[in-house]
Amino acid sequence: MFVRHLSVADYRSWPTAELPLGAGVTVLVGRNGIGKTNLVEAVGYLATLGSHRVSTDQALVRRGAAQAIVRAAVVSDGRELLVEVEINAGRANRGRINRAPVTRVRDVLGVLRTVLFAPEDLALVRGDPSERRRLLDDTLIMRAPRLAGVKSDYDRILKQRNSLLKSVVAARRSGGQPDLATLEVWDSQLATVGGQLMAERMRLVQQLRPYVVAAYADLAPASEPVDLRYQSSVLEELTAPPDAAAAPGADELTAAMLQRISRRRPVELERGITVVGPHRDELELLLGDGPAKGYASHGESWSLALALRLGAFELLRSDGVDPVLILDDVFAELDTGRRARLAQLVADAEQVLITAAVASDVPAELGGRTVTVADPEPGESTPAADEGGDAGRADPTRADPERAGSEQPVGPVLRPSAETSATADDQR
Ligand SMILES: Nc1ncnc2c1ncn2[C@@H]1O[C@H](COP(=O)(O)OP(=O)(O)OP(=O)(O)O)[C@@H](O)[C@H]1O
Ligand SMILES: [Mg+2]
Repeated sequence: MFVRHLSVADYRSWPTAELPLGAGVTVLVGRNGIGKTNLVEAVGYLATLGSHRVSTDQALVRRGAAQAIVRAAVVSDGRELLVEVEINAGRANRGRINRAPVTRVRDVLGVLRTVLFAPEDLALVRGDPSERRRLLDDTLIMRAPRLAGVKSDYDRILKQRNSLLKSVVAARRSGGQPDLATLEVWDSQLATVGGQLMAERMRLVQQLRPYVVAAYADLAPASEPVDLRYQSSVLEELTAPPDAAAAPGADELTAAMLQRISRRRPVELERGITVVGPHRDELELLLGDGPAKGYASHGESWSLALALRLGAFELLRSDGVDPVLILDDVFAELDTGRRARLAQLVADAEQVLITAAVASDVPAELGGRTVTVADPEPGESTPAADEGGDAGRADPTRADPERAGSEQPVGPVLRPSAETSATADDQR
């Protein structure tokens, strides 16, 4: 699939921007802070309803504005859909497909699939387990959007169970009668939905593993091999040890989770929080025989993070549709050998969106076209694009052989402007 056109309004630094895109490689080039990542982050937002840089939506709305709008025309299998999300500061977000409102914003999930790799992904290797759980859950939901419902049910039940636990702890401390019967109702709800989520995640890890192992071996052939393992205290309660070939089923995991919850009851009644379940699980990354976290070098961590994303890309692709591959600022971090290997790995993706501050960091053999993101011209109040309609827009098919090392923008130019809409426009 590919994004044919991206529009944003009051998103991050952009009052408005219209960016025509096409299949193949597009490189957004421009100085630090000009707003390149903001644009590709907006594309990723439509696919995951989250940003790879912040955990809440607040920072996505342009300072001083009440709402941001992100809209993309997405072409998949020859069919085009217009997907739109309105991000509201302090109110529920809203979604539209082909301009018709959807019931819940999460109903837009599945229209656009992306895999986004960014410098922040170093946290996939070095950061908290929540980073790795999010990788799993985002990938799950992209493949099966109904799982967004399972995930949000789980989060809701967990929250309610936690507040009940808190009141139980408070009641016990003040010598009152804690309501343990109600707690058991929540145990069973948590375990039912938790078992489903765990089963999906474990099956995903099994499917993802060979792709990640292969991508890492491609990127870092001299390094020790990597491996992935889903870790959960719930697995200790399984009657039969997990089979290497088949992940345990949801019912089995639900039963094990209930067992674990009852075993850990004293701890929960002491601490007042839920200590068992997929929200505490971990995707363990191994390098050679040991954990990658705390041991992998900077370069190894970087390659492993990239391999996780490329593995997810290959897995999604194996479902029959190429997701949009977004590489935010990656080439600057890689040595020449790994740049060339990455370029080979992504060359046949249906659409690749790349950002770079310096055009020469992007391997010339990737080809494609360049869009220069530039400052407004001095004294210019109306961007050139506003005069020309479509004629003035960027030509998505235009190749740019002169990209590498060039100083002057040679392709279409996109300029931010506070007053009027910014449109990628051929430079005149
Ligand atoms: N909510 C917001 N409102 C207004 N401006 C914002 C908002 N969020 C971010 N910005 C601005 O956006 C700019 C950063 O944009 P972005 O991260 O896209 O830059 P970039 O072109 O990717 O730069 P680099 O090459 O350094 O990665 C910063 O100047 C920041 O102040
Ligand atoms: Mg950036």
